[in-house]
Order: sequence, then C-alpha cells, then structure tokens
Amino acid sequence: MPFPKKVKIVEVGPRDGLQNEKQLVSVDTKVELVDRLTQAGLSAVEAGSFVSPKWVPQMADSDKVLAQVKKADGVSFPVLTPNMKGFEAAMEAGAKEVAIFAAASEGFSQKNINCSIAESIERFEPIMAAAKEQDIAVRGYVSCVVGCPYDGAIAPEKVAEVSTRLYDMGCYEISLGDTIGVGTPAKVAEMIAAVSQTVPIGKLAGHFHDTYGQALANIYAALELGIHVFDSSVAGLGGCPYAKGASGNVATEDVVFMLNGLGIETGVDLATLCEAGRYISQSLGRVPASKVSLALSAQ
Ligand code: HMG
Ligand code: MG
Repeated sequence: MPFPKKVKIVEVGPRDGLQNEKQLVSVDTKVELVDRLTQAGLSAVEAGSFVSPKWVPQMADSDKVLAQVKKADGVSFPVLTPNMKGFEAAMEAGAKEVAIFAAASEGFSQKNINCSIAESIERFEPIMAAAKEQDIAVRGYVSCVVGCPYDGAIAPEKVAEVSTRLYDMGCYEISLGDTIGVGTPAKVAEMIAAVSQTVPIGKLAGHFHDTYGQALANIYAALELGIHVFDSSVAGLGGCPYAKGASGNVATEDVVFMLNGLGIETGVDLATLCEAGRYISQSLGRVPASKVSLALSAQ
C-alpha cells in the first residue's frame, strides 16, 4: 500500500508522558506544555486523565489544566475517562473528547483499572451512551497489543476481539497500544492484519512505547499497512505506572523527523516542537529522550 500523504499525530506527552512522573508537575507547567504543543501545530493534544487520584496522583489536576489551556480551532484536547465518575468530571471540566481504555490482557486490565476486560466493557457502556447524548467524541485504547508484563505474549485474535468491541460500541478510532514496547515490525504487522479484519484500517491508530527502541520501526510497518494516525510523546516522556518496565512513548520529534523524511505531512513545526520538548525536560531536570532533539541542539 502506498504511504499516506498526511499523518495525524496524537500528542500524548501531557498525559501518558507525565502520568508516570513521581515529582508533581505544576498546573502552570502542564498548561505551558500543552500550549507550546498546540503552537507547534499538533491538532490533538491529550491534556490529562480523570482517573482516581489515589491511583495516579500526577493527573489529579487535569480539570484545572483542561480549563486553562488555550483552545484553538481544529485542535482537540482529549482526556482519559475509565468510568462514569471520570466521564462526569471531564464533562464538568469542559472536555469535548474523551478516551476509554481497555486491555487485550486480563492481567493488565486488573492491575491498571482493577477489573476484568468484560467488566471494563460494562463500565464503558454508560460512558458511550452519555457521550452520544452530549455529542462527545470517544476514542478507544487497547493496551498490551503485543505483550503484557503480567500475561506474556498476547494473541492477535484477542486484540482484534477487544478492538472490535470498542469500535462497535461507537469509538471513532481505536489506538493500539504496545504498552511495554516489546513489539517488533513483523509481530506488529501480524497484529494489525488481524485487527483490520473487523475494524477498518483507517480507524486504527498506533501507540508505541519505545522501551526496546522498536517504536519507529513499528510505525514504519504500520504505515505500510495503511495506518495514518500515531500517538507519540514530546521528548519521549512517559510510561504507564501499572506496567512495570514501560518507558516513554516514541518521541514526537523523532516521528516528525522520520515522516518529514518520507515526505509525509504532519502540520507540525519541528523546531517549535523541539523547544516544547526542551521546556518540559528542563522542568523535569533532564535532557529530552529524543535523538532528533539532541542532534538538532548539538548543531
Ligand atoms: P477502584 O478502586 O476499583 O474504583 O479503581 P472504585 O470505583 O471502587 O472507587 C474507589 C475510589 O476511587 C472511590 O473513592 C472513588 O470515588 C474513586 P473513595 O470512596 O475511596 O474516596 N474513584 C475516582 N476518583 C476520581 N476519578 C475517577 C474515579 N473512579 C473512582 N474516575 C479505577 C478503579 C478505574 C478508578 C482505578 O483503577 C484507576 O483510576 N485506574 C487508572 C489507572 C491509569 O490511569 N493508568 C494509566 C492510563 S492507561 C495507559 O497509560 C495505557 C495507554 O497509554 C495505552 C498503552 O500504552 O497501552 C492508554
Ligand atoms: Mg501509553
């Protein structure tokens, strides 16, 4: 399949990137980060998560972040909602788009959201109904699409089953999460081939953590199969607090650089993006985990 002309990048740094940080990041810093990312041209910036503050303390101020970020035409600021409590709080905070998140493995579902896959789907049903009524777009995540830190290798058929369930419930897109970054291109391609039997390829997104340095190769494999939406995290921030060994998402800077090289449009300005990455990395007291950012700043 020829590569798409355009790719949409869903920037997950302010959520997936920061949720694993032990040191609490201030609301002002989070807002500044989101605003810089919007300025860089990203059209979707995941701004936070309405989960239990006991489970993920870093996301407890997502309502304030969402309220304060500069809204821009054509830019969405989705937030995670695991249950009705989270959905209602997100609505109160003015969210226009939410994401529900399930897993393809029972072990991860239990550890991450304290219920089985079937129970999670039951929790999502009222969210889908309320979202439909209020005209709120819902994205669906499926975690552990290649491997699980608790259950090991995951069958592509299981990923297809959960993805199809979320898609049939009304999610406009299913983001396939390689939560612990164990995927390699052939495995990822096999998984996508299985899922795309029942969810149209144009409704799938790739969400690759870069734990084993395979994320860009996996994105390339997914592009070849026709996927044109990818999640990534500025400065390679990130990880899931309930997935031991999950390191950051693939760095947005590296994805944009690769796509630029392939002649694929993203609408993202690399220099402004790198600045945003340096800003948050400096706030966290480290250097960006993006090879592109480091190479460009060494010039
Ligand atoms: P639970 O303990 O089973 O929930 O947690 P519960 O319904 O029994 O409630 C227990 C307490 O939590 C109660 O408070 C509730 O009010 C409160 P208490 O009476 O004890 O004071 N509570 C809430 N508070 C705020 N917001 C809510 C909420 N719900 C209940 N929405 C629950 C179940 C799902 C809440 C919990 O397990 C949780 O918050 N998990 C979230 C974990 C998480 O955020 N993980 C990271 C995101 S997923 C990810 O990173 C993967 C992804 O990037 C893709 C990939 O890489 O694979 C998306
Ligand atoms: Mg993730």
